[in-house]
Amino acid sequence: MKVIAIDGSSSAGKGTLALKLAEELDYAYLDTGALYRGVGYELLQNGLDPQDEEAAVQVAKSLSVERMLSLQDDSCIRNEVCGKAASYVSRLPKVREALFDFQRRFALFPIKKDKTPAKGAILDGRDIGTVICPEAKIKLFLTASSEIRAKRRYKELQLKGLCVIYEDVLSDIIQRDKRDQERETAPLKPAEDALVIDTSDMTADDVYAQVIAYIKERI
Ligand code: DC
Repeated sequence: MKVIAIDGSSSAGKGTLALKLAEELDYAYLDTGALYRGVGYELLQNGLDPQDEEAAVQVAKSLSVERMLSLQDDSCIRNEVCGKAASYVSRLPKVREALFDFQRRFALFPIKKDKTPAKGAILDGRDIGTVICPEAKIKLFLTASSEIRAKRRYKELQLKGLCVIYEDVLSDIIQRDKRDQERETAPLKPAEDALVIDTSDMTADDVYAQVIAYIKERI
C-alpha cells in the first residue's frame, strides 16, 4: 500500500499540500472531508436535520462511488453551512462506518481523475493515519494556531466575495475543533508515528519543502 495520510485541523494547509504532492508524485488524491460535507449537503437539500442519525446513515449508504469520487470537485459543498453539517454527521459512528469501505478501497486501488490507476494515494482528513490507513508508511499531521487558521479562512472567504466577520470565523473554527477532538469515534489526534508540523509560521512552500524531503528519505 503506497499511501500518504494527511490529517489535521481545518485550514491547517492539508488540501494545498495534498494537491502539490499528488501532482509531484503522480498519486491520486482523496479529500475525505468532502464525503462528510456531501452527506451534510444531501440532508440539508432534503430538509433533513444533520443531527438525525437515521437519516444521515441512510444518506451515507446511498452515495454512489461515482458521487463520492466527484464530491471533492463540487463547489456546492464548500460553504460554512455544509461545513457545520459535516461536523455533525462526522460524529456519528454509523456514518463513519458507511464511508469506511470507499476510503479504504481508494487507498488500496487509487485511481486518478481520468480513471487511470495511480502509483499511490494521498488521503487527507482527520482519521486517515489512525483509522482508515493505520499501516501507511507516511503519516503527516498538520496543525496551526486557531487565530492563524481563522485568518487564512477569513481571507479565503473574502476572496470568494463573501462578507464575513473575523470573530465569527474564529469562533466557528474553535467550535469545530472541539467537536472534531472530543467525539468518541475517530477523534482528531495524530497517529503515534505521524510527523507533526505546526504550519502557523510557515508558507505553503515551506511546508511542501519539508514534507517532500521527508517523503523522499522514506520511499
Ligand atoms: O476538512 P473539512 O472541513 O472538509 O471536513 C468537514 C468535516 O468533516 C469536519 O468537521 C471534520 C470532518 N471529517 C472527519 O471527521 N473525518 C475525516 N476523515 C474528514 C473530515
